[in-house]
Amino acid sequence: MGNRWNRRSFLKGTGATALGMTVASLTPPALSAENDTPKPAALAPTPPMGWNSWYCFRRNVTQEDVRAAADVMVSSGMRDAGYNYVNIDGSWQGKRDANGVLQPNERFPDIKGLSDYIHARGLKFGMYSGPGPFTCGGDPASYGHEEQDAETFASWGVDFLKYDLCTFRKIMLHDAPNDPAKQFELMKQAYARMHRALLKTGRPIVYSLCQYGIDYVWEWGAEVGGNLWRTSHDIRPDYITMAEVGFSQAGLSKYAGPGRWNDPDMLQVGNGGMSPNGEMTQMSLWAILAAPLLASTDLTKMTEPTRRILMNREVIAVNQDPLGKQGDRVWQKGPVELWAKPLSGGDLAVGLFNRLTWNTPIRFELTDLGWTGPAKARDLWTHQEIGIIRDSHSAWVPSWGVVLLRLSKT
Ligand code: GLA
Repeated sequence: MGNRWNRRSFLKGTGATALGMTVASLTPPALSAENDTPKPAALAPTPPMGWNSWYCFRRNVTQEDVRAAADVMVSSGMRDAGYNYVNIDGSWQGKRDANGVLQPNERFPDIKGLSDYIHARGLKFGMYSGPGPFTCGGDPASYGHEEQDAETFASWGVDFLKYDLCTFRKIMLHDAPNDPAKQFELMKQAYARMHRALLKTGRPIVYSLCQYGIDYVWEWGAEVGGNLWRTSHDIRPDYITMAEVGFSQAGLSKYAGPGRWNDPDMLQVGNGGMSPNGEMTQMSLWAILAAPLLASTDLTKMTEPTRRILMNREVIAVNQDPLGKQGDRVWQKGPVELWAKPLSGGDLAVGLFNRLTWNTPIRFELTDLGWTGPAKARDLWTHQEIGIIRDSHSAWVPSWGVVLLRLSKT
């Protein structure tokens, strides 16, 4: 654990003020050599993008739903905009056969055929399991079958595995009663065990840890092989929950980088619980956070406004910027917040967020951002140049809304 960041230095870094400070602290900590083979950043050089079945189909998801999602990802242009993972969440599992090999349930009669269908369309295929005996939905998970399941996944052509803690918590409590430190070690070992099993298959599989942000997972997620790790409880399709999850990511930027991403859960764009301003807020904040962009709406019913928000190429470019730096909060002044993300070529993405239920102007100084000299500014939602900013800038920001700018040197 020599390289593990200690909690005191993390807490000190939280809510960094001037962006100069934030930039300096964005270098990710080195991987620990202990128990692990460092993952090549090549597996997820930028935050993974795609679709996941959970928030639209929950426990009723079928093979046809997933196939239809893949079809729309191609026909709507989502794939070409960068959304390339098609991920089944929970509730695909059936029983294990006599040899212990995990079988899909009756709603997934042909997983390999589905995987081939997805791959034939230039997309990638993601699956879901967990370290406990059962998933959150009560289906068999990988406890005691890690290598066998990893081989099954590899044989199906799986490219992404979400590994959800769920019932492993019961194992932790059972095996190390009243010993939180030992429980923590057991959890880390369980995640590392599946990582080793995935490596052993020889197939590159992006590894997504889902344990809801318990025990500072951003400090050790990469050590156990994670390429992304959930940093929050489950999100919901309403502004209040989305904002609580999204804005609580302040201070985590230094733990992310190519191959290792903080994951504040999926996009709720298109799920009906937020106004377009709320949806643009989530898309902008997730872009600044370099968060995985996993749409989780029924794509077959996608409306034009949803399509426009999910596929705003200029916003996606902020998220997918090759520099691979997560942005962070610059300041919060009551209900308004300024966030920024360093981009390649010296550009900066700047988000002005209004958490009020009233429209309000938000004003910032270039010095707040550690920016010297004038800045050329472009509005990434209206797709318009807004001119040169010399010292400060003020914009009206709608209630529960955002203005997202890209600053460049003049
Ligand atoms: C947990 C996870 C969710 C989803 C469900 C499936 O709640 O956090 O993302 O995978 O399980 O049951």
